[in-house]
Amino acid sequence: MRIAMVSTECAPIAKVGGLGDFVQGLARELLKHGERVEVLLPNYDVLEGQHIEDLHEIGAPLRVPFHDRRLDCRVLSGKLGGLTCVLFDPLSEHRFFARSRIYGERDDAQRFAFFSSAVLEYLRASDRRPDILHCNDWRTGLIPVLLQACEQEPGMSDIRVCYTLHNLGDQGRVGSDILHQVGLDPASLMVPDRLLDPHDERMANLMQGGIVYADFVNTVSPRYAWEIQNTTQGMRLQPLLKTHRNKFGGILNGLDDGVWNPEVDRHIPVNYGPGSLPLKAANRRELRARLALEETEKPIFAVVSRLDRQKGLDLIEHGIRYALAEGGQVILLGYSLDAVITARFEGLRAELSASPDCRLELGYDEALAHLIYAGSDMILIPSLYEPCGLTQLIAMKYGTVPIVRRVGGLADTVFDAHYSDKSFEVRNGYLFDDPTPAGLESAMSRAFDLWRCFPAYFRQLRVNGMRGDYSWRQPAQQYLDIYRHMILSRAQSAS
Ligand code: ADP
Ligand code: GLC
Repeated sequence: MRIAMVSTECAPIAKVGGLGDFVQGLARELLKHGERVEVLLPNYDVLEGQHIEDLHEIGAPLRVPFHDRRLDCRVLSGKLGGLTCVLFDPLSEHRFFARSRIYGERDDAQRFAFFSSAVLEYLRASDRRPDILHCNDWRTGLIPVLLQACEQEPGMSDIRVCYTLHNLGDQGRVGSDILHQVGLDPASLMVPDRLLDPHDERMANLMQGGIVYADFVNTVSPRYAWEIQNTTQGMRLQPLLKTHRNKFGGILNGLDDGVWNPEVDRHIPVNYGPGSLPLKAANRRELRARLALEETEKPIFAVVSRLDRQKGLDLIEHGIRYALAEGGQVILLGYSLDAVITARFEGLRAELSASPDCRLELGYDEALAHLIYAGSDMILIPSLYEPCGLTQLIAMKYGTVPIVRRVGGLADTVFDAHYSDKSFEVRNGYLFDDPTPAGLESAMSRAFDLWRCFPAYFRQLRVNGMRGDYSWRQPAQQYLDIYRHMILSRAQSAS
C-alpha cells in the first residue's frame, strides 16, 4: 500500500506537541509493516533539516492556485531515517513558511490552505499517487474537500482519505474567502452539512470540511470519540459527528519506542527499565543538579506541557502550590504562544524563585523533557479535555506515576491505584473527576501518602506503568485495517 501522511508537524524535524510524535510514530510503524510511506510537510524555515538526508528538488515547481493567480512551489524530497519526507516550499513574496515558527501567525489559515492546495497539485502531477492520504487536524481539512472537487480527473478519485482529529478546540474557523483562495466555490460549500460553521454562519469550518468529505474519520482515543459525539467536548460538532458516525471511530495513539524508551534514550545519563528501576535515581540526581534543585528525599512532581487552557492552567498552578506545601519538589517545563499565559507563569516563577524546591522552565526543550520524565516521581496532567495525551504514556514508560483528570485518552490509559475495576498489575496512576482544586488534591494526596507510607506499593505502581504496552503495534494495525477497508469499499463501489 502506498500511504501519504499529510501533516503540519513531524518529530524530530518539526514538532510543537503530540501531533509531531503521532506522525513520526505511526509512519515509522507502518514502514515496519512493509508499507510505502511518505510524510508531506511544509518546508518551514525552522525545520530541523539536519536530520534529513539526500534532500533534493523533485520535478518542476508546482503552480498552486492562489485567488486569481498561481504561485510557484518547489517540492523537495529526502530521507528521515527510512521515511520519505516531501517538503513544500513556496516561492512567493508571502514567505508562508519563513516565519521563524510553525504556528501562531495571523494568516495561519491562508498559509495552511496554500499547503493543502500545493498537496493537491502534487497529487495531480504525480505518476505514483498514494492509495491512502492520511490528513490531520483542521490545517489539512481542506484536502478532502479539494480532492472531492476533482474526482472526475483520472486517478484522483481512487485516492482514499483518512482524516484524524487531534483536537476539537481548534477547528479552523475562517472567512469563506479561504475557499476562493484555493479555487473552491463558496456558494455550494457554505451550507450547513458542508463547510458552514455551526457557531457563526459567516465562517467556514475547515475541520468540518475534512469530516464531511473524508472517507474515514477518527480521533485519537475511544473515550474522546464518545465525548465529542455526546458532550460539549464536541464543541458544537456533535450533530455532524453523529451524522457521520458510520465512518467515525477512536484509535488510541501509541509511542515510538525508539524515541520514548528509558532503556535506550540518549538524552538521559543512565538507561534503565522495569528490571533495573533503582537506576532511575541517577537520573533524578542529574535532573536536580541540572536545575539546581536541592538534593533531598522529597518526591518530584513534574509538569511537561503546552501551557494552553485545555491543559487546566488553574489546576496546574494549584498543583504546584499544593505539592510544595505538602513537602514535595516541583519542576514545570511549559511554553505558550499566548503572551497573557506566558506572563502569568513568569509571575508565578518570580514568586516561587526563592524556593529551593521549585523550578519553572518556560520554553520548549526536547532534551530536558526526556530528563524530566526519567528523573521525576509523579507527573500532573489536570486537563480540562484531552483527546489522547502522550505525556502520561511517556511518564509511565519512564516509571513516573501520572496524576490525571478522568477525561479523553487519559481515562483510557491511566488506571487508578485504589479505585479501579482493573487487576492490581495494570493499575498505574491516579485519577480525579472534578476540575477543581479539591478534585486535584484528592488524587495528589493519595499519591503522596502512598509514596510516603507504602514505598514498596508505590514502586510497584511505577513498574506496572513501565510494563504497559503503549507501542504503535496495535494502533498501526487498526489504521491498516481501516486503510484496507477503504480501498476495498472503493473497489466494490467502482465495480
Ligand atoms: P499536546 O499535543 O496536546 O501538546 P500530548 O500529551 O499529546 O499533548 O503531547 C505533548 C508532546 O509535546 C510530548 O512529546 C511532550 O513531551 C512534548 N512537550 C510538551 N511541552 C513541552 C516542552 N515545553 N518542551 C519540550 N517538549 C514538550
Ligand atoms: C493533540 C491533543 C493530544 C494528543 C495529540 C496527538 O495535540 O491535544 O491529546 O495526544 O494531539 O494526537
